[in-house]
Amino acid sequence: MRKVIEIKGLSYRYAEGTQALRGVDLEVFWGESMALIGPNGAGKSTLLLHLNGILRGEGLVKVLGKKLTKGNARGIRGKVGLVFQDPEDQLFSTTVFEDMAFGPLNMGHPKEKIKGRVTRALGQVGMEGYEERCPHHLSYGEKKRIALATVLSMEPEILVLDEPTSNLDPSARRSLIGLLKQLKLTKVVATHDMEVVAEVCERVILLSRGEVVADGGAREILTDVDLLEAHELEPPPVVRLFRQMGATEIPLTIEEVKPFILEEVLWEREGEISS
Ligand SMILES: Nc1ncnc2c1ncn2[C@@H]1O[C@H](COP(=O)(O)OP(=O)(O)OP(=O)(O)O)[C@@H](O)[C@H]1O
Ligand SMILES: [Mg+2]
Repeated sequence: MRKVIEIKGLSYRYAEGTQALRGVDLEVFWGESMALIGPNGAGKSTLLLHLNGILRGEGLVKVLGKKLTKGNARGIRGKVGLVFQDPEDQLFSTTVFEDMAFGPLNMGHPKEKIKGRVTRALGQVGMEGYEERCPHHLSYGEKKRIALATVLSMEPEILVLDEPTSNLDPSARRSLIGLLKQLKLTKVVATHDMEVVAEVCERVILLSRGEVVADGGAREILTDVDLLEAHELEPPPVVRLFRQMGATEIPLTIEEVKPFILEEVLWEREGEISS
């Protein structure tokens, strides 16, 4: 499998003194969906900002086979699409169209192709027809969706999302989960939304106080209640329910619960028929 991100011994200290990352090692492979979880202040956003060279700490950061340096960070931004935690950091033009055209134009894509890309990306986040709206006059959730669309319009190879579902209404959150499942890209998602982790990601990295404390399969990490609680986190509701019931086999998602319930219903019906 091709390694698309390789980080070795990455440490970062903010100018005012906070040591946000301490010797992080991380590898992400092509096509993988990786969740980055951890309590507030763990360093998730700081780590993501290193993936396209916005921040540069001590240690090695290699993306798509290239070591990130001051000189090549700009070139990598078209390939690593980073959606910030706060959409206000992503939107700066006077119309949605301009914000969305900025990335592809900057990467040298021909003007006549931009309109199509913008329309497609707006459709992907359910914001068709918003081209002429002013980004600063949108609701927070709408801004989040447009911020994601600005990155999708670049058609990146790696999609890096910081808290993509926060502030979205349930329907927008559900469509985003569907979209993420459908996009065949390498994905790195920092989130507190454990259902997103369960539904979208096959691998999980747990970061705490700037260090990687666990790196494993989503099932392994999401069912480890002690590990999660030790780091101010909790498993998805379905896992909590099945754990509380003392089940040995633990489903992660509602989809996975269905066979359990069907089995139970059939078993009861059989009982009714035979009695
Ligand atoms: N611009 C900054 N200047 C100084 N310190 C910062 C800055 N941004 C973050 N920090 C500090 O660095 C640490 C890591 O912050 P970071 O934002 O990476 O955490 P996080 O895991 O993304 O948290 P959250 O779950 O709240 O988004 C925190 O202690 C935070 O206070
Ligand atoms: Mg953050």
